[in-house]
Amino acid sequence: MEEPLVERFRELWDQLAPIGRDAASGGYLRYAWSPAELRLRDWFAEQAARRGMPVDADGNGNLFAWWGELDTVRAGDGTGAVLTGSHFDSVPHGGAYDGPLGIVSGFLAVDELRQRGVTPARPIGVAAFAEEEGARFGVPCLGSRLFTGAIDPDRAAALTDADGVTFAESLGGPPTGARPDLLDRLGAYVELHVEQGRGLVDLGAPVGVASGIWPHGRWRLEFTGEANHAGTTRMADRRDPMLTLAFTVLATNKEARLRGAHATVGRVLVEPNATNAVPGRARAWLDARAADAATLAALVEAVRAKATDRARRDGTTVTVVEESATPLVGFDEDLGGRLAGLLDSPVLPTAAGHDAGVLAGHLPTAMLFVRNPSGVSHSPAETASDADCAVGVLALADALADLATR
Ligand code: GLV
Ligand code: MN
Ligand code: MN
Repeated sequence: MEEPLVERFRELWDQLAPIGRDAASGGYLRYAWSPAELRLRDWFAEQAARRGMPVDADGNGNLFAWWGELDTVRAGDGTGAVLTGSHFDSVPHGGAYDGPLGIVSGFLAVDELRQRGVTPARPIGVAAFAEEEGARFGVPCLGSRLFTGAIDPDRAAALTDADGVTFAESLGGPPTGARPDLLDRLGAYVELHVEQGRGLVDLGAPVGVASGIWPHGRWRLEFTGEANHAGTTRMADRRDPMLTLAFTVLATNKEARLRGAHATVGRVLVEPNATNAVPGRARAWLDARAADAATLAALVEAVRAKATDRARRDGTTVTVVEESATPLVGFDEDLGGRLAGLLDSPVLPTAAGHDAGVLAGHLPTAMLFVRNPSGVSHSPAETASDADCAVGVLALADALADLATR
């Protein structure tokens, strides 16, 4: 007799749990093409092979495991494949669930459909998208952006990590870029993800359906001043970019609050980064998100204006460079509404980015969220119960069955 789903979930989850886990923080270091992420990719290949699902690589770092023949289907004539999946890569010291839960659930949903004796009328695929967090090369959803043609492959190829390694070097060659030949064969995408807030906890629901994603982006803030001696430089003579940075961080928080938006400076690099030197240069990364594009643009403009004004007073300079932008995403309302009805689940928005948000511009796309009791994400405190994860797998299987048997 088949083991209960919750036990099969735990078995797969235990296989992934040690991979890339930092013992000190309890969080995960699973940067794209790091040894940990490569092990996860091997695990993906093994799981696909166990299920007799051939794996395609798209030349952009994304992997697709297929149940059924892709060659004969086309979205245009209503026979497009149904894809699910997510990503393996993590933010620095991230949680276990953000990403891998969607891939594990994809394989378990395939098992569930096979147990139910479902014969899909179209192929079902499980995807592992590359560099979703942008933690290594700076641009989030890099794999899905390349796959859909949302980023120039030459620009992606030249992106560098903290050690100066290019994306192309880590991939083993320049990325292929847009794959209309594959994209045109996809009829729908459903990504399951751990919820990254307390929406489902408050609603008392194990699973929810996403309505959309707030527009968001990343900006690099470059502050330049003059490096000098911390002991001998008179306070009045300093051109300290750290002051401009500190003021800008506080202004960012205030401007976001004023607009009901979210803005974060979570990463800074200071040079020379010495206790006894006034810094000469500082860089900070702004992550900003808002309910609509106009609010987001106004927020970033206000931050730029405040930083520039402060720089004038500090004798420093500041430049603001957009590194990535993701427009407002509204997931397919028909599909989302149908799945919410089918699964008897609430519908809720999110301000987190996902590959589903990129794919949504090209094909009917939906997201399922699994309750996260801590409400915390991008941190080791991110969590989900095995029981809720099993409910998530069943919901995903229902969604795939609905889509693949139409
Ligand atoms: C991805 O998780 C993001 O929202 O940054
Ligand atoms: Mn994430
Ligand atoms: Mn994610």
